Amino acid sequence: MWGMRILVIGSGGREHALLKGLAADKLTSDLHVAPGSPAMSTIATVHPDYSKVDDPEQMLELARELGPDLVVVGPEIPLVAGVADALRGEGIAVFGPNKDAARIEGSKAFAKDVMAAANVKTARAEQLEPGASQQDIDAALDRFGPRYVVKDDGLAGGKGVVVTEDRAEALAHVKAVHEIGSPVLLESFLDGPEVSLFCLVDGETVVPLLPAQDHKRAYDNDEGPNTGGMGAYTPLPWLPEDGVQRIVDEVCVPVAKELVARGCAYSGLLYAGLAWGKEGPAVVEFNCRFGDPETQAVLSMLDSPLAETLNAVATGSLAELAPLEWKDGYAVTVVLAAEGYPASPRKGDPITGAGLGDLDKVLHAGTNVMDGKVVANGGRVLNILGHGATLAEARAAAYETLEGIELDGGFYRKDIGQAAEDGRISI
Ligand code: GLY
Repeated sequence: MWGMRILVIGSGGREHALLKGLAADKLTSDLHVAPGSPAMSTIATVHPDYSKVDDPEQMLELARELGPDLVVVGPEIPLVAGVADALRGEGIAVFGPNKDAARIEGSKAFAKDVMAAANVKTARAEQLEPGASQQDIDAALDRFGPRYVVKDDGLAGGKGVVVTEDRAEALAHVKAVHEIGSPVLLESFLDGPEVSLFCLVDGETVVPLLPAQDHKRAYDNDEGPNTGGMGAYTPLPWLPEDGVQRIVDEVCVPVAKELVARGCAYSGLLYAGLAWGKEGPAVVEFNCRFGDPETQAVLSMLDSPLAETLNAVATGSLAELAPLEWKDGYAVTVVLAAEGYPASPRKGDPITGAGLGDLDKVLHAGTNVMDGKVVANGGRVLNILGHGATLAEARAAAYETLEGIELDGGFYRKDIGQAAEDGRISI
């Protein structure tokens, strides 16, 4: 195949990283993104009018107009809404699972059921329906905490999880989730350092990418509220040599097989979020798409052609793909967030600094262009990238770029990858 037209769905830093990787593949001749953002227009045709990414009809309308060889769906919301099903229904190759397989992220209860059937280690969990009595809620909290892990059963963009020692805070989150009509999942707390492992999955064929670690709390030293992720690094110097293979064998392959057995074979990116405890890797959560911001770091290390790789999954030929090749060294990404993130990020502040157009250093997660100026347009605004032969060098490169960027009220964590660099992570 030569000269592929590719449509990417989404608009954040993860999609900017996907576009950058796809643009670098000589297979790609024509790149589109919907809705995208103005910063993406240097490498792709942006379709801002197609902004209802969770509307299969609207995404299908654009695909019919463009006639892409491949559609890459970035976020979970369109996948859970059935956008991949609609596109596949028209014979279009899609990177991203169908709606029934996307339940691995869309319903935590479904994910728990799959894991139980596949014998995959995960936290003990109980579901509390919105009608649960105060007595039932109290008894359930007694069985689990402290520490309490309280999750919204549905999609909540990383903000639906509260992990706390404080019972009043745990109870308040139960009530808040019930108020919006969603069931709550209470879970036992999994100890141990976290790993994000992304796997390409095509039925029972599973190919892992480099392992990464995200930093979910808003502030240094893992303080403050949970966010979608404030920064990541890859690979993980503290992971045992067989760590990735163990996760593939103990977690990802059994889950992929179980989904095939249930008649909802997976095709796309399966993100296993794990805690590596005393007994090895245990699943904290699955996502049905690339993680954000880990992808920005992970894909920057990939030497194999991205379009060919994603197309192999989309066309059911992953098993025939050559082994993936990776750069040596480390990559770090640090999120520059807007004032007020995650509760109420302020939009519209101008961003200045060198490197705003250098995709090797800066990817745009939530920006717009107004009156010719780049302005903040989301909670997570920029993803700064750093690379180096060592983790220390990669961190230093990212922070040096950040120092040259100005965003009024903007903030970032100073300790992305710091514990690993200091050798403070052990398993
Ligand atoms: N980095 C966390 C996520 O993508 O859900």
